[in-house]
Amino acid sequence: MMFSFIWLLILTYAGLVSPADVYSSSQVRSIFILAGQSNMSGRGGVVNNTWNGVVPIQSKPNPTKILRLNAGLKWVGAQEPLHKDIDVNATCGVGPGMAFANSLLNQDPRIGTIGLVPCAVGSYMGTKISQWGRGTFLYRQLVRRTRAAAGDNMGKIRALLWYQGESDTKDPRDAVMYKRRLERMLNSLRADLQLPSLQVVVVAITSGQGPYVNVVRTAQFGLQLPNVMVVDAKGLPLSPDNLHLSTPAQVRLGEMIAKKIPPSD
Ligand SMILES: *[C@@H]1O[C@H](CO)[C@@H](O)[C@H](O)[C@H]1NC(C)=O
Ligand SMILES: *[C@@H]1O[C@H](CO)[C@@H](O)[C@H](O)[C@H]1NC(C)=O
Ligand SMILES: *[C@@H]1O[C@H](CO)[C@@H](O)[C@H](O)[C@H]1NC(C)=O
Repeated sequence: MMFSFIWLLILTYAGLVSPADVYSSSQVRSIFILAGQSNMSGRGGVVNNTWNGVVPIQSKPNPTKILRLNAGLKWVGAQEPLHKDIDVNATCGVGPGMAFANSLLNQDPRIGTIGLVPCAVGSYMGTKISQWGRGTFLYRQLVRRTRAAAGDNMGKIRALLWYQGESDTKDPRDAVMYKRRLERMLNSLRADLQLPSLQVVVVAITSGQGPYVNVVRTAQFGLQLPNVMVVDAKGLPLSPDNLHLSTPAQVRLGEMIAKKIPPSD
């Protein structure tokens, strides 16, 4: 007891843990899962593997209203980069998450505290849909983190925000299989979470790492599942790396996704 107290003091002093920053899940009312690859993880403001630290006003923290489930499965005040302890092999920057949450608070003041559950992994080569199937590391992490988030039944899992598919545009076989693989993965997830009608917001990719972008886009717009909505990323500006959405694009995307979330009851 005394020992752990001293440890906490030391860690706090070292700036590693701030007790005031750790929340209990009973405070969280509306839970959103963020999954996919690098553009969901966030690379806005990353140049030459360094994040410039610039957080636009639309993505600013709001530590009593917007929390994040960290890698240690604790709720902490959320701030960009939301995925920094999840997408650990990449340099993370600004993604759509904080702009999404701030915009939801504006449009639905009764929503209560928002809990974000970052699960996206972009890493080096990005992640393909086949790496997200039931039984994979990414899938298991997604389920584990979501269950932990809803832990004591206090918060409601409102939606899964999914932005992935760029890595499936390289090989025509992947592109052709995309629709079935994503549908299967979403069906498994809804079954494993016992949320058969979990809302899913899919971001349609606008370009990708290969030539089969339109095959993947068509799949995303044609998903034969209930309660799936599509937000189109087409036209959003890319960063100077030409590979990722810029910070302003991520802000815009977060706001577009928020519009797809129905008001809380
Ligand atoms: C990034 O790296 C390239 C190549 O090393 C260099 O030319 C460029 O100036 C760097 N950009 C910034 C913003 O540091
Ligand atoms: C990070 O890289 C290590 C070593 O290659 C690997 O074992 C691990 O799975 C990677 N983690 C993520 C989240 O990409
Ligand atoms: C990020 O999204 C943009 C816009 O859809 C796309 O052009 C790019 O290929 C994506 N980047 C990666 C690494 O998937």
